[in-house]
Amino acid sequence: MSNTNNNIESVLVENRVFPPDARALQGARISGMPAYEALCAEAAADFEGFWARQAKEHVVWTQPFTRTLDESNAPFYQWFDDGELNVSANCLDKHMGTPVEHKTAIVFEADDGTVTKISYRDLLGRVSQFANVLKAEGIQKGDRVVIYMPMTIEGVIAMQACARIGATHSVVFGGFSAKALQERIIDAGAVAVITANYQLRGGKELPLKAIVDEGIALGGCESIKTVLVYERTLSDWKRVEGRDKSFTEALDALEGQSHECAPVPVGAEHPLFILYTSGSTGKPKGVQHASGGYLLWAKLTMDWTFDLRPDDVFWCTADIGWITGHTYVAYGPLAAGATQVIFEGIPTFPHAGRFWQMIEQHKVSIFYTAPTAIRSLIKAAESDEKVHPKNWDLSSLRILGSVGEPINPEAWMWYHRNIGHEKCPIVDTFWQTETGGHVITPLPGATPLVPGSCTLPLPGIMAAIVDETGKDLPHGAGGMLVIKRPWPSMIRTIWNDPERFKKSYFPEEMGGTIYLAGDGAVRSEDRGYFRITGRIDDVLNVSGHRLGTMEIESALVAKTDLVAEAAVVGRPDDVTGEAVCAFVVLKRGRPTSDEEARKIAAELRSWVAKEIGPIAKPKDIRFGENLPKTRSGKIMRRLLRSIAKGEAITQDTSTLENPAILEQLGQAY
Ligand code: PRX
Repeated sequence: MSNTNNNIESVLVENRVFPPDARALQGARISGMPAYEALCAEAAADFEGFWARQAKEHVVWTQPFTRTLDESNAPFYQWFDDGELNVSANCLDKHMGTPVEHKTAIVFEADDGTVTKISYRDLLGRVSQFANVLKAEGIQKGDRVVIYMPMTIEGVIAMQACARIGATHSVVFGGFSAKALQERIIDAGAVAVITANYQLRGGKELPLKAIVDEGIALGGCESIKTVLVYERTLSDWKRVEGRDKSFTEALDALEGQSHECAPVPVGAEHPLFILYTSGSTGKPKGVQHASGGYLLWAKLTMDWTFDLRPDDVFWCTADIGWITGHTYVAYGPLAAGATQVIFEGIPTFPHAGRFWQMIEQHKVSIFYTAPTAIRSLIKAAESDEKVHPKNWDLSSLRILGSVGEPINPEAWMWYHRNIGHEKCPIVDTFWQTETGGHVITPLPGATPLVPGSCTLPLPGIMAAIVDETGKDLPHGAGGMLVIKRPWPSMIRTIWNDPERFKKSYFPEEMGGTIYLAGDGAVRSEDRGYFRITGRIDDVLNVSGHRLGTMEIESALVAKTDLVAEAAVVGRPDDVTGEAVCAFVVLKRGRPTSDEEARKIAAELRSWVAKEIGPIAKPKDIRFGENLPKTRSGKIMRRLLRSIAKGEAITQDTSTLENPAILEQLGQAY
């Protein structure tokens, strides 16, 4: 039976409850359920007053706001819109003259284990200098800058420097292909790319700058005037004269000039960043976030969800190419004055105990990772005693977190026992690129935990489960997850496509102002706890990475010499949560031997890696003479999902023109 079904069944009978112990309760910012409930009641009684109070307490405004929420053009909500701030100043300058100034901001562990530390004071210096480089390159407030960088201190500096001068960054994950990069550059109309010559992962040197060149060469990127290259390794890189500069050259050119750079105040609604994510259609969506509300959320959730304390060492393992790396690496920890660990490499190099070794070495107290990483490390620990977490001292840990996909109760229990030693609350944080930060999550000093459940919404988040018409469903009934009122860190629009923004997230049938998350969910009958059952649209979640099935289908059919038609569905996978399964009709007809099928499957995989990135490569490829369709010509996706899972077919297949294809599709390559 499939993993997801297993998970769902075991969650349905899940009745283990883990209330916060004395250690978690003591001194917690939100200590005990009555404190949480009081905040919820405050938000319900005076919604705007509640958010105004939070925004005044957690954000440094250069110009205080007088309007909290403007709903006049809903769903284009505006928060604190007449206020001004600078996000980088809220992460760095704010700490100068406080005990945080000389505290370590970042502990960077490189792929090869080399450790570099930087204080808040020094980070401010580096960000300011780099912001001066951007200015010298003519980059101005409102310009878009694409960042294609490895996990390094320099990656964070690039993001912070953009924020400092009011440039809008768009980080593209280093695993995306040249084509994906080109599409994002064009859509964002970026004027510059910040990249590195190479990235180091798992002992391998992987090109980044060469992919930038390749992406730009695909055409349409004339807006790019500058490419700045961080020389992560000593290896050579090819230079385009007049366009490319290394970081060192760019900094040397400013020799003799002031190292300071005054942060540029921007309006609260000024776009801090655009981050592309997958949706139901082939084209990725540029999720646009604002400055004020987003920064408030990044700071506030560090306090609420992680109950951050001055001596904590925080480690979020996400890459800056994803939203988690934005909110809980580049902004939240710095706004909160935390010491954080940034890791360049991968969890299995040089051995699968690397995470546990790093927790011991850096005395990490808050550890935040994805279920897929936990599941793969469980597997590794079970097959090799030497990488079992029991070999390391994990006693520094205080709080554990999970993000990106549902965590199955078995993995939750393993995390709880083997990493948390039954002492650390696990915050299973539900959120999305669009929500900017956590929206449904336990609070470590308040919420009794139930494995596999993200429990309850944060104060002020009006989450509910409804049917297609927007009607509330009773606890116990599965439906669509919505958030009925706006919140400060929500998506503001889809870059270049406001209509798609309205259509994707604010369905007319529900009145046009309620945020539709795109996930199915159910609330438990006893506690009203939320449990996410997975996406209700054509979006897959592979290792916590969002992928659109249509995006992969478009990539496959773009291989015009081979592919006539393709359909992509997800199937459950023990480690990656979901796996990509592609059904392909070849122009030349079905492969005539296993050998040919394997060869074509390999060719299609590398094609998809080139079109989108290696994360989108189909795990299974099945070849048919055609695809199962209804009489009206619609692909029978439910049937494909059953085939992908290896389930017995229960659907009506009488309308199939050619029932023999069911057998053909039975074989995966
Ligand atoms: O399906 C939900 C799942 O990840 C989706 C959002 O993906 P993305 O925008 O890439 O952001 C991931 C990091 C926040 C959601 O629609 N998801 C995220 N967190 C959880 C989750 N599903 C269940 N439980 C979670 N804690």
